[in-house]
Amino acid sequence: MPYETILVEKRGPVGLVTLNRPKALNALNAQLIAELDAALTALDADGEVAAVVLTGSEKAFAAGADIKEMMEKDFSEAFTSDFIAPWARIAGHKKPIIAAVAGYALGGGCELAMMCDIILAADNAKFGQPEINLGTIPGAGGTQRLTRLVGKSKAMEMVLTGRMMDAEEAQRSNLVARVVPVADLVDEAVKLGQSIATKSQPIVQIAKEAVNVAYETTLAEGIRFERRSFYATFATADRREGMVAFSEKRSPDFTHR
Ligand code: HXC
Repeated sequence: MPYETILVEKRGPVGLVTLNRPKALNALNAQLIAELDAALTALDADGEVAAVVLTGSEKAFAAGADIKEMMEKDFSEAFTSDFIAPWARIAGHKKPIIAAVAGYALGGGCELAMMCDIILAADNAKFGQPEINLGTIPGAGGTQRLTRLVGKSKAMEMVLTGRMMDAEEAQRSNLVARVVPVADLVDEAVKLGQSIATKSQPIVQIAKEAVNVAYETTLAEGIRFERRSFYATFATADRREGMVAFSEKRSPDFTHR
């Protein structure tokens, strides 16, 4: 299916999805979110792909949900159409998604980055939840995910004032894994995806699922889920191969079984 708002390519085992509405700083309209979900679903089903990188342009990862598309909605329309519901699907994909963020990641753009599994930031990245300036609040997880990632005080400051965080502050605040020069951003993110691709893919997906459970449940339930998942890895050939290879002092040859 040809996409109009995103570009999709493969760099070896890594799917690279580029948000592509440059004139609107990649503002996230309904078409873009639907195309992104379709692309991620196709990449999940693609046996050659082990991880996905999601990026934007050097100026903007995404400057938010499309304000012009939302502008005229009233409560009844917003509520009954539940127009944010499709966004939630982005967080439900199985393969790891690395957000490679340069420039603005604002509002829904910041929320989209936080739906990904790892955020790599370029040194020019700016994160913010400026919805308060539009007379609204974050609506795609910002009040929840940002608070879990950076803590209450900083999340509250950002959500109540709309202040942006630069890349250094985002790293200090645990919003991003790493900051890299903007020119290297996509290559570094692809390299990270390629490193994940050398592992056993079912085990990578089990690990992703287990980490994500930490955001959904109590510590005791999370530990129970982890232990059950850990034991489940013993049902795979790759778990045995990994341990045997270690004892034989060689690299594992994972078959993804
Ligand atoms: C629609 C947008 C947009 C957005 C930018 N544009 N952000 N269009 N929705 N979120 C458009 C502008 O209207 C303009 O179009 C073009 O992109 C370039 O933007 P400029 O403002 O001219 O660029 P610049 O002066 O460099 O300023 C960059 C900026 C500013 C600081 C990022 O664009 C900005 O403040 N954008 C809005 C950020 C925001 O409030 N995001 C939160 C949205 S609400 P024209 O046609 O004039 O050239 C949200 C809610 C999420 O995300 C809830 C869940 C979905």
